Amino acid sequence: MSNDGVRIDVTTDDGNKVACVMHALAGVLLADACDAYGAPVEFSCRAACCSSCRVRVLHGSEHLAAPSAMEQELITGSGKGNDVRYCCAATLRADAPAGAVVRMQPLGRAF
Ligand code: FES
Repeated sequence: MSNDGVRIDVTTDDGNKVACVMHALAGVLLADACDAYGAPVEFSCRAACCSSCRVRVLHGSEHLAAPSAMEQELITGSGKGNDVRYCCAATLRADAPAGAVVRMQPLGRAF
């Protein structure tokens, strides 16, 4: 994958260290970037149902597109706040600028 586009840092589970640095173009599904880089985010349903791909966005949430209705239902259901996103549903914004940085912490299942 190219080094152009948005840099996505995936931290360790405790959020203290960067475990994986990914680069993805605007509009990309976070799950596709995670797959390409072998990021330490777990996936199961890949359909915004199970919550295993839950992450906390520590930085750069403005570069993510607004949640779909399905993802919003999970976000609301988890009761963990609006900085939580689901990698199988969340995409980078189509207009996310090259050089932007997103940092996310894997949280795992909410329920
Ligand atoms: S993999 Fe199940 S909610 Fe994302």
